[in-house]
Parts: sequence; C-alpha cells; structure tokens
Amino acid sequence: MNFRLQCIECKAEYSPSHIIYTCPKCGDLLDVVYDYSELIDIDLTELWSKRTFNVWRYRELLPVLSSEPVTLNEGGTGLHRSRRLGELLNNLEVYVKNEGENPTGSFKDRGMTVGVTRAKELGSKVVICASTGNTSASLAAYAAKAGLHCIVLVPSGKVALGKLAQAMIHGAHVILVKENFDYALRVVRKLSSIYPLYLLNSVNPYRLEGQRTLAYEVYEQLGYKVPDVVIVPVGNAGNISAIWKGFKELKLLGLADRTPRMIGVQAEGAAPLAKTLQENSDELLRVPNPETIATAIRIGAPVNWKKALRAVRESRGTIITVSDDEILKAQRLLASTEGLFVEPASAASIAGLARATSQGLVDKGEVVVCVATGHGLKDPEIVFKTSAKFMELQNAEEIDGFVRALLNSSYFSKISTPTALGLQTTAEHSTPSSS
Ligand code: F0G
Repeated sequence: MNFRLQCIECKAEYSPSHIIYTCPKCGDLLDVVYDYSELIDIDLTELWSKRTFNVWRYRELLPVLSSEPVTLNEGGTGLHRSRRLGELLNNLEVYVKNEGENPTGSFKDRGMTVGVTRAKELGSKVVICASTGNTSASLAAYAAKAGLHCIVLVPSGKVALGKLAQAMIHGAHVILVKENFDYALRVVRKLSSIYPLYLLNSVNPYRLEGQRTLAYEVYEQLGYKVPDVVIVPVGNAGNISAIWKGFKELKLLGLADRTPRMIGVQAEGAAPLAKTLQENSDELLRVPNPETIATAIRIGAPVNWKKALRAVRESRGTIITVSDDEILKAQRLLASTEGLFVEPASAASIAGLARATSQGLVDKGEVVVCVATGHGLKDPEIVFKTSAKFMELQNAEEIDGFVRALLNSSYFSKISTPTALGLQTTAEHSTPSSS
C-alpha cells in the first residue's frame, strides 16, 4: 500500500523518502498514513490465512518498499486462554498475548523488523536507540541480521541483566549512562539530528507500524473477533498507541464491527500518563525521577504521550496504576496458574486487570486480552530477590522425610488455590469450595 507521513497535530504530510522523526513544521509526532482504498477489492482474511503466522503475514499493511524484509520470524505469538487466572478474577474470559515468544523475547521485535527494514531502505549504516533494555536487545539483534552498526544507550544499573547480555552478544556498542531513560532518549534524539544515525526508538513512526500487527493477530486468534478490553503496560507509550491503531483499522477495513477499550497500566512510581489523564491536562505531567521495580517501564516523560492519550480516550478506556508489590504478585500468580513466566513490566497488565476488575472497569462476561510484553528470563534476578530461599537437604533420607511430610500436610490442598493479588478477588466469594 502507498504510504506517507502525517503530523498528528498540524496534519502536514511528508514523503517517506526523507528521514524525519517529528514534524519539521510544528515538532509534533508523525504517523504513517495509507490509502486504504487500495485494499478494497482484496479479501484480506482469506489472503492472510494462506501465509505463515508472523508479522509479515500482514505485509499489505506494512510501510515498506522492499520485498526482502529484515526478519527473524517475529510475531505469531500465543494467545493463551487463561482459565485459572480468569476464575480468580470475577470469572472473566481472560487471554494472555505472550509477547515473550518473539525471537528476542519481547514485543519490540514486531517493530524492529519494520524499523530496521526501513533503515536499510533509507540507506542508513548505523542505528541507535535509548532503552530500558528490550528495545536495545531487539535493535541489536535486527541490526546484526541486517549487517548494520548499532549503538545503544541504557541507564546504568537499571536494566535487567538478560537484556544487557542480549545487546552485547549481538555486537551492539553498549553505553551505560548514569542517568535515567528519559535523559538517554533526549541524548539519542539530539545525536540522530546531528549525525547520520537512524533512530529506532518509538518516536520512529515506522517502528510502531510493526507493533500494530498484535491487534490483527488477536483478531484472527479470537476467530475474527475483537475483545472487549485490551490491557497493556505503558512506558514510552508507543505500544498502546500502535495496538489501538491496529484495532481501529480492522473496523475501518470492515473486518470488525467494533473496537476494544484500551486500558494502559503504569507503575505507581512512574505514572505520568495516569496523572495527565486524571487531571485532564493538555500538557504532559512529567515525573522527574520515575522509580519502579518494573525497570522496563521506568519512564517519566513518555514520548508518545499524545498518541496514547488519544488511544485511551477514543477507545473509552483509561490508564490505571499498580504498585510494585501488585506487579510482583501478579508475576508469580501468572507463572503459577498459567505456566507463563513474564518480566515484571509485563505482569503489570495482569496486576492492572485485577485492579480494573476491583474498580468495576471490566464487567463479568467480557473478553479481556492482557498483553504480556516480555519474557521473564530476561530478569531472573528479580525472582531470586523475591522468592523464598532454596531448600538444601543433605541426603536421600532427609529428602524422603521432607517429601513424606509434604504429602501428609495440607500443603497440596492449599496449592490449588494460588495466592491472589493482594486485592480482593471475587473468586473467594463466587467459588465457596475454594475457601
Ligand atoms: N513492557 C516491556 C517489557 C517493555 O520493555 C516496555 C518498553 C513496555 C512494556 C512499554 O512499552 O514503551 O511502548 O509503552 N520498553 C522500552 C525499552 C522503553 O527501551 O525497551 P511502551
């Protein structure tokens, strides 16, 4: 499909042959716009169903010119019906879209396959980003695949080790900055305006286009239906904006008859969007020193704040906050009820669901999709910090004694009712047998 760039505010349009990230006239964010009428005679779902289940299945809707994208077979992640979790939460029909199944273990790969393909098309040789970890891991991998040089800036001491290891092994030049993500992003934006460095943070409109594919996948996986609610952890606020655009397009293309409510989730100590929405401010209410255990979303000045606020307003959704404690409990709950190990920022969507349920934002009978944005193995340290110590026994006799005691105890009857989220869940009331 033909595409061009358009300013989200002044609506000025630009040709995709220039490298720009924001509107040269007014400085606001850019969006990729298409001429959807080109698709009018195409049976899209029929076409998609014949292709591999990955991001490029939706290539008509992706803003690339080349027939050879830089790909690691990203997308096509599982949409897991989470019955045990749903029972604990008001008997909701809950699904977890497990983005940890992507090649580098996070949703960023959906964007990077498109963004790095564009970098090559535009003739760039060096790509750059600031990151709380996942973006750098993903960009490093796709740059390696494309044969491009890669520079990443990450806040020193605030990035999960697995993510740092990924960026290093893929050959990126990793720079640790003694400042937070917001500062690092300002630096790379400045650098990319001076030097020939292609910027692949989510201010890059092409990257976000790849992330829309999550919406198309969910639609297909639900049997060509959209859910009632989609819950997404929010950091720099690109993903929630991209996913919303995807759902809007499904309606625009006549494939779906409605759109879901988008609920963004921020950590209490890093919640600029929740605050901005709550106070109905026209300006972003920044958080100067964001802090949360979910380092991936430790962001105080989200670059896509305007797009994200529009997404939640248009969709009649909202942005809610959760505490670090709720995030950690949700991470453990998801792992122990559904077998899905996600990183803390991802678990924010599960904690958010519990909050939303207790606040009456989600109704019984509604279909909810929680986006679990990244894999738990990226941050194993957090598990060791928050788990009970290992049990160390001397020999077979001691082990035998322990196992016997365990089988005789009430432990196994208790284990079937996993600890809830610290918030009151209705499971305790609705299923008397579980008490
Ligand atoms: N979840 C995870 C695991 C993330 O890594 C991020 C963002 C988000 C959620 C939030 O997504 O920024 O689109 O609102 N991580 C970026 C990074 C900032 O540098 O890896 P967003």
